[in-house]
Amino acid sequence: MVDILGKKILIMGGAGFIGHNLALKIKELGGLPFISDGLQVNNLGYYTSQTEFNSELYISFINERLKVLRANKIPINVFDIRDYNLVSQNISTINPDVVIHLAAVAHANRSNKDPFSTFDHSLRTLENVLDTLKNFKNIHLIYFSSSMVYGNFKNGVASEDDNCSPLGIYGALKYGAEKLVISYSQVFDTIYSIIRPSALYGERCVSRRVSQALIENALMGKELTINGDGEEELDFTYIQDLIQGIIKCINAKEAKNEIFNITYGKGRKLNELADIIKNSFPNSKLVYKKRDNLMPMRGTLNIDKAKTKIGFEPDFPIERGLEQYINWYKDFANKNVDLFKNK
Ligand SMILES: NC(=O)c1ccc[n+]([C@@H]2O[C@H](COP(=O)([O-])OP(=O)(O)OC[C@H]3O[C@@H](n4cnc5c(N)ncnc54)[C@H](O)[C@@H]3O)[C@@H](O)[C@H]2O)c1
Repeated sequence: MVDILGKKILIMGGAGFIGHNLALKIKELGGLPFISDGLQVNNLGYYTSQTEFNSELYISFINERLKVLRANKIPINVFDIRDYNLVSQNISTINPDVVIHLAAVAHANRSNKDPFSTFDHSLRTLENVLDTLKNFKNIHLIYFSSSMVYGNFKNGVASEDDNCSPLGIYGALKYGAEKLVISYSQVFDTIYSIIRPSALYGERCVSRRVSQALIENALMGKELTINGDGEEELDFTYIQDLIQGIIKCINAKEAKNEIFNITYGKGRKLNELADIIKNSFPNSKLVYKKRDNLMPMRGTLNIDKAKTKIGFEPDFPIERGLEQYINWYKDFANKNVDLFKNK
């Protein structure tokens, strides 16, 4: 994991959940991370302007991100990546070795509710980066897609070569974006890698996916809600496993112009996830609600390609990853008791 030394890595959407954790790891390994982010989508602007869920708590997580980024002297350029001129200026000034594109509306349900702005933040931002990079043929673009491009997994497993049949706006935009990335490379001879992650969890996430929602509700003394009967499987992936995969993608020449599933590599039932969380919070109560039919039935992502081509070796099964995540949450809750009061 050390070939990153001295490499300039520009992270578009880098003040989000994946981006800030990645920037910290790049810095720790001796690389030079740069962040560009508007801080509006699923970030400070959004949570400051509304009161749903646990806005105050999420503002404090985001402030914590910004605090650690500043403490590590990681530069953050705050601007809207929908602005073409600002994007090309940003890329030409930094002249990075790698651009990692994370900017998007990262929620499937929010994308279905607001397709127009999802298109803007997810595709317009990518188009600006692609168009700028056609003049920089040596910059490696790493694009963040999603397991949602597959739609319903056949027999519970998805491999990179499987046919993609996304359900809903989020998956369709991700699939369209992958095609754009590949076609720019065909036409302009640029270098890319596409990463398909799934069901991520980890420190300072504000997206309220299922593992976060269960832990937070347990800490607040609320019921833990599972959508569906809990027998559905997801390939839960701890953030540090994903980051290992990204770093391997940056380093390996075998990653060039390839698509990789980067997950833990084993579907686990929602009920198994809930059991682990209930072990840490024995008084919590589990309830089941109707599942959203626009969420595809997923399962395991086959990660053999990432293992053989780039040497990806995940090491956080949910038992280990959740333990770290829960400990971090408990520690944060002890220091910020008011933010965890059941409102
Ligand atoms: N977290 C997951 O489980 C997961 C799974 C699969 C794919 N992904 C993909 O990975 C990427 C990053 O996910 P995340 O969880 O870090 O999301 P996030 O919402 O935490 O981060 C996205 C960041 O992009 C920024 N952004 C969005 N539009 C912007 C714009 N127009 N200008 C400037 N900044 C803008 C936001 O401010 C935010 O900080 C997304 O593309 C997402 O779809 C995430």
